[in-house]
Parts: sequence; structure tokens; C-alpha cells
Amino acid sequence: MEYPTISMRLQQLSCGFHLWDVTLLYSCMVKFVGPLLILCAVTAAYGQYIPRFDVQGHRGARGLKPENTIPAFIAALDNGVTTIELDLVVTRDRQIVVSHEPWMSAAICLTPDGNPISKSREKEYNIFEMTYAEVAAFDCGSKGNAAFPEQQPIRVSKPLLRDVIAAVEDHIRSVSRYEVDYNIEIKSSPDGDGKYHPPPAEFSDLVYELLNQYLPMRRIVIQSFDFRVLQYWHQKYPEVRLSALVENTRSVSANLERLGFSPSIYSPYYKLVNRDMVRYLHRKGIRVIPWTVNDESDMLSLKALGVDGFITDYPNRPRKYKMTLGITPK
Ligand code: G3P
Ligand code: CA
Repeated sequence: MEYPTISMRLQQLSCGFHLWDVTLLYSCMVKFVGPLLILCAVTAAYGQYIPRFDVQGHRGARGLKPENTIPAFIAALDNGVTTIELDLVVTRDRQIVVSHEPWMSAAICLTPDGNPISKSREKEYNIFEMTYAEVAAFDCGSKGNAAFPEQQPIRVSKPLLRDVIAAVEDHIRSVSRYEVDYNIEIKSSPDGDGKYHPPPAEFSDLVYELLNQYLPMRRIVIQSFDFRVLQYWHQKYPEVRLSALVENTRSVSANLERLGFSPSIYSPYYKLVNRDMVRYLHRKGIRVIPWTVNDESDMLSLKALGVDGFITDYPNRPRKYKMTLGITPK
């Protein structure tokens, strides 16, 4: 059974205004009465408030559970996110693992013997040189994360992407009953090619082949700071939505020119966002999803600037303002 998706909802809203804008609702209904009736039926069937705003759970819900782990993704779903955000790395045996760093971070991981890892030596624990069996022996949850004191420590290892998808889809079927999107970051940089990860084409093909076994591409967004990766997907897999991650202070037009095409999403560091940027990107038909927004006042300010969503470590915070789905966890 298919549950409604964020993509479906956005298509339904593509007449160019907010669903709850009552003054324009009548004219939209005349044009799109069928899809709206479906949306109403779905809403009634599941009793969920369906926002148009896309709240994305960063590394699942890093503020609440160990980052990029299955408990964090389940927590994100239980707080009503419309997208889960995650990062990918690759092992020596070409397994795709969900992890922010291509090594064992001293900040969050313990060795298989339960010993801490020193910051100066963390890159020696290079995941691209390990098999997945070796990766799975590290505990990247018991230690907690000093930067996120509300995070619940859990003994957990870095998961395979396919296991994350299985757990998320099972939770959707059994609890949340709303298909979320996956915003998947390919962690790549020119310096890391062949050392910490495969070069863009090989890395991308591995990811596409895995995703294609488990999910429809309409639920996928591929994001990267490495524009080589985005350019490869644009050329090889044009059906997949792409998000350009940006942390530099160059103009939007300079970044888009360097990219060479219009992505579906422009995803800047949240402090770079202003109203002119949002208007400029919207005129080009590009959605704006900044990262990583954890302060409630920033969430409200960015929403007022007209962004299309944001990525947050704390999906419980926007939930308070009804920016997320009305999920009631069991
Ligand atoms: O993908 C958005 C955000 O996650 C980028 O920052 O370093 O947490 O992957 P990072
Ligand atoms: Ca990321």
C-alpha cells in the first residue's frame, strides 16, 4: 500500500499558493478538484495534519539519539518529519554505510574493545579501508555527543543504508503511515577520491543501484557539497532530484553557474539565507532548504523569510509549532 508522500503533496500544491490561503482556494479547487479531494480523503483517513513545509531530521535526530543510526531515524519519524537526512560512506567491500565521516569519529565512537579514540588518530580508522564487519564492531552511540547533551546514549553501530531503509519503511507501514522523502548526502571531496571514498562516478553508481532496489526515485533527493557528484547525477540519472549544499559566501548566481544547471533544491548554511536569496531562487523554481537549524527563534525567522523547509537536529522543536506531521508515536 502506498501512503501519501511529500512529493505528491507538493505536486498538489503546484498551483503556486498555500493550501490554506482561503481567498485563493476556490480558484485552485476548480482547476485541481480531483487531487484536492484525494488529499482531503487521505488526511481524513489518517487524521494527520499535513504541512506544506519540509522539516528534515538531520542525521535522523542528532539532538535526541545517536546520529545517523536507526534509533535516530525512528525518532525523526515519530516527531513527524517529512524528510530524513543522512550521510553516506563506502567500505572496502563496497557496502554503503550511513555515517557523516569516512572514519570513526573520536567525538562519538568507541573501539570494539570499548576504548576511546584519540582525535589525532581518528582518521587511521578509515572506513574505506575496512570491511563492513569491521565497521559494525565499533560502538558509535554509548559515548553520547558532548555537543548534544539531550542525546540518549545507546550502544549502536553505524548501519548499512539498506538496513536503515528497511527499518524506516517498516516504521512507516506499522506506525507513521506517511511516506517521507530521503535527503541523501554523498560525502565526497576531490581530496578524498580513492583515499576515503570512491571517485564520484563509482560512488554514485553504487548508491543509485542500491536505492533502485528499495525505493522509488520520486522519494529521493541526492545532496552534496561536491558539485562533481551533482553534475554526474544530473547527466546520468536526470530523474533524481538534486540539492546543492552550500557553505561558501559566493553569490547564488556564482554557485549556480559553477554547478552548470538548476538543481531542485538550494541548501545553504542557514546564516547565509536572506529574503532576496529566497525570492531569487523561487523565481528560478528552486526550493530553499537551509541547514542546520536548531534554535526555535531561527526556525520561526527562516519560515517567515519564505524558505521551503529546513534541516534540524531537533525535529521535536518545529513539532511544537505544528511545522511537522501530526504523528502520535506509540
Ligand atoms: O545536508 C545538510 C547538512 O547535513 C550539511 O552538513 O556536515 O551535517 O553533513 P553536514
Ligand atoms: Ca549531511
